[in-house]
Amino acid sequence: MFLLRRAAVLPVLRSNCCRTFCSSPSLQMERKGLVLGVFEKKGEESSQRFTKAAEVFDHKVSGKLSELLKISGPSLKKGKSRVFYGVHKDFPCVAVVGLDDPAAGVCGAENWDLVKENIREAVSAGCQVLRDLELTHVEVDGCGDPQAAAEGALLGLFYYDCLKSKKKAKVTVLPHDSVEAAAWEKGVQYAEGQNLARLLMEAPANHITPSAFAKTIEERLTQYGDRVLVQKRSQAWIEEQGMGAFLSVSKGSEEPPVFLELHYKGSPDSADAPLLLVGKGITFDSGGISLKPSASMDMMRADMGGAATVCAAVVTAAALNLPLNIIGLAPLCENMPSGKATKPGDVVTAKNGKTIQVDNTDAEGRLILADALCYAHTFKPRAVVNVATLTGAMDVALGSAATGVFTNSDWLWEQLHKASVVTGDRVWRMPLFQHYTRQVTDCQLADLNNIGKYSRSGGACTAAAFLREFVTAPHWAHLDIAGVMSNKDEIPYLKKGMSGRPTRTLVEFAAALAYNK
Ligand code: BES
Ligand code: ZN
Ligand code: ZN
Repeated sequence: MFLLRRAAVLPVLRSNCCRTFCSSPSLQMERKGLVLGVFEKKGEESSQRFTKAAEVFDHKVSGKLSELLKISGPSLKKGKSRVFYGVHKDFPCVAVVGLDDPAAGVCGAENWDLVKENIREAVSAGCQVLRDLELTHVEVDGCGDPQAAAEGALLGLFYYDCLKSKKKAKVTVLPHDSVEAAAWEKGVQYAEGQNLARLLMEAPANHITPSAFAKTIEERLTQYGDRVLVQKRSQAWIEEQGMGAFLSVSKGSEEPPVFLELHYKGSPDSADAPLLLVGKGITFDSGGISLKPSASMDMMRADMGGAATVCAAVVTAAALNLPLNIIGLAPLCENMPSGKATKPGDVVTAKNGKTIQVDNTDAEGRLILADALCYAHTFKPRAVVNVATLTGAMDVALGSAATGVFTNSDWLWEQLHKASVVTGDRVWRMPLFQHYTRQVTDCQLADLNNIGKYSRSGGACTAAAFLREFVTAPHWAHLDIAGVMSNKDEIPYLKKGMSGRPTRTLVEFAAALAYNK
């Protein structure tokens, strides 16, 4: 007698951050689950078609799985899952997940690969339902794209319970049967990269201070030996560099600033021009003297999302041994009000000598990035990409659908766009018109004003125009990730919490540059 139950995907607030976790040892070996794929039924088909792995499995159990699937209710829709019990002695629970037509491919209107995206969603739903049944080991069908399957599994199982006394049962995820190991492993690395960014972004600001952030990345990166170099620059170094804009933000806080500099030397030619990644690293943004309203201020612990995704991308590039040179820069500090804090109307001088009137201390991200961008140019980069939770206006414009990209380079735009279609972590091009430049250069006391003349209108665009004043590189892109910083339930395989977006797109972009794709 086979038991059958329709699986409801419960709203999960926590998901595991690693591949392996501990659980009750007595339960370990016998509690093994399996996730298998089945394609959504097309009009003329009499029954649902299994993936290769599911077909092999069904054959092993003399067609019991297909029989159960047929009698269990209406045909399984893509992204949904259903659990069957006792079908196979090694797998007490089997989650069958609904997949899209494998011919669906890239959708021009949606700007992503429907098949990959659906595999991520379906596998994540299957893994979560098995985790909710307290299984400790889950094997996953590659579903025709093992990288996407591994990403779905590990992203879907991530949860942040580091600070809870009672932890959720941990799950070990493994590829099932003849899944192509290299593609699976690549998916694991991409997902673990994004999960590292999520971990840093979700952590409270009293835990992830600038120094703690830098230490965490140093620990993750130094395992790659002489291919990497980590430099944690101190306040004295920042002063020597003449980074007056960065210091004007950090000076309101008791926490010392850190300028984190990561070198990944993956190219066989160490003199190869590096890709420069720069991330906004405000470990807490209170707004400073231009204090933010208290509602949702806690979310500003993730205002280092740019630094988190950039550093996680460097760590992932090292893990994947990508053959290119990357330098990651993260100006890290808090934005706090105090007797020492910058006041509205103060004028500060950036590393390149430009003067800035700080009319709103809450527009601090562009100040720390201004100095980091000046410094980035000293490495003669092949391209500069900065990533920042820069403006609430970006969230108003695109919401969490896509990262906004402002760039002076059609080539760079194409590279980033292509990468995002593969990862499903989308980007969308935004304008860099002189129209916006005029609004930040029209300033009473200094060369630039840190908020546009009409502060609310086109806020994401004026912020980008401000950054451009510190760029001379012909291939530069600014990614505003304020809208994609957190997830409620929009991206089904991420669940609720800080998203770690767009780490996988950065990694895919770097990989394409490395292999000249
Ligand atoms: N960190 C915020 C932007 C932000 C808002 C990120 C919501 C993620 C979610 C940034 O420092 C900020 O406060 N920007 C101001 C700029 C304004 C004062 C010109 C904003 O967007 O309101
Ligand atoms: Zn701010
Ligand atoms: Zn901010």
